[in-house]
Formats: sequence, structure tokens, C-alpha cells
Amino acid sequence: MRVVVLTGAGISAESGLATFRDSNGLWEGHDPIQVATPEAYADDPALVQRFYDERRAALSRVAPNAAHEALARLEQALGDDLLVVTQNVDDLHERAGSTRVHHLHGRLGSAWCTTCDERHSWAGPLADRPPCPGCGARALRPDIVWFGEIPYGMDVVEHALWSCDLFVSIGTSGVVYPAAAFVHWARGTTLELNLEPSSGASDFVESRQGPASHLVPAWVDEVLGSGGPGSS
Ligand code: APR
Repeated sequence: MRVVVLTGAGISAESGLATFRDSNGLWEGHDPIQVATPEAYADDPALVQRFYDERRAALSRVAPNAAHEALARLEQALGDDLLVVTQNVDDLHERAGSTRVHHLHGRLGSAWCTTCDERHSWAGPLADRPPCPGCGARALRPDIVWFGEIPYGMDVVEHALWSCDLFVSIGTSGVVYPAAAFVHWARGTTLELNLEPSSGASDFVESRQGPASHLVPAWVDEVLGSGGPGSS
């Protein structure tokens, strides 16, 4: 059984990382979504770097929750037949033990040098404009896919969706493309696990509502107990 799991901010919410659209909170007076654009970076690079520096620093204060751990358990059973595609830029899937994780929107733990085009593992801040370890240019930006930029590795994701038996979407509002269209590209059956029905909930064969820390372990137990994918 080949399974593709898409995750969004909702899977990390119970670890203490804010989602994008649930809170109306502003960051330093800015809508976080407005900060995540190439235009915002061109206008005020220090502001955008500070935003991501804070989020990178926050990773050391949070831990994976039961939903991340359940997906790692599923990978142990399915091996290469499971691909986790995440819109999240945190590292909680990896810290829970998942190894087959595709970061569609990049990673906080990576910095991209716009001079030499190299990417480097990064744990510290970027707002103080450190030199690129490769070429020395002070041109490192967060390795994050901003609005208007092209998500990473769509060929890999499309291939996985076209050949899967089950597509499961977890903790995403379903308003950002291309991820919002994956339910239409998936060859197999489809299941949504989300706190509330997403904007595309009716496109799924089945939609379950509740916190990811409950729904995901329960679903993984069903699959591993051979109730079969999506069975209740
Ligand atoms: N369990 C399950 N789902 C949850 C939980 C929870 N504990 N808490 C919140 N949710 C759900 C919300 O109901 C919402 O539908 O998670 C979803 C989060 O939606 P968004 O905040 O829009 O996050 P996401 O879908 O990941 O955003 C997609 O938008 O800003 C960009 O690039 C950014 O990757 C991000 C993309």
C-alpha cells in the first residue's frame, strides 16, 4: 500500500508552533503571511530575517507531538511506501524519527546563498548578515519558499500522488496551492484529518475532525492493525 501524507501547520500546533490562519495575531504589527513574500524581503530584509530568526530559535523550545510520532511509526512499517510531504518549515517530523520527508516550502534549518546558490544547514540567526560559508558573500536568506516562488520538488510529489493508494491530508487549511490541489491529483482514496473541515473537505472521500494528536495515532493504529487505510 503506497501512502502519501500531506501535513500543514495544524500538525505542529499542539507542539506550540502557531498556525498561519487560526490566530489573528500580528507579528511586530505585520500579518505573518505578508512577511512571507519576496517583495517584503526586498523592501525590508532585516524585518523578514528577524521574523524567520525568531521562528528558527523557537524550534529549540518545542518537541514533536503524538501525531508526528505516529507518522514515524507508520514509516517504520511501510518504509519506502510512505512519503510525508510537508508544507511546514519546522523539523518536527525528522525529530520524531521520520526520514522520508519532503519539505515543499523549504526549511528553517537551511540558509540559501543567493550569490553562489549553495544551501547550508543553519541553526543561528541571519539578521546580522553572516557570510556564506561557501563563497563569503553576505547574501544568505532563509531557505523558505515564499508566496510567488516555486515549491520544491513538485516532480517527486506529483509522481508519488499519481502512484499512491491513499492520500491523507493533516492539519492544513487547504487554501494554498499547489498543496490544496493534491486531493485532485491523488490516484487512490483520500482522507482528511483536521481540527475543522478545511476549505476543500468535501473533495475528500472521508473527512475526520479533531486534534491531530488524537486523530493521527488512531488512524495509524487502524492502518497497522490492518483495518486498512481510511477505515473506521
Ligand atoms: N490538529 C489538527 N488540525 C489543526 C490543529 C490541530 N491541533 N490546530 C489547527 N489545525 C488546523 C486548522 O483548523 C487549519 O485548518 O490546521 C490548519 C492550519 O491552516 P493554516 O494556518 O492555513 O496552515 P497551512 O495550511 O499549513 O498553511 C499553508 O500557507 O502561509 C503559508 O507557506 C505557509 O505552509 C504555509 C501555507
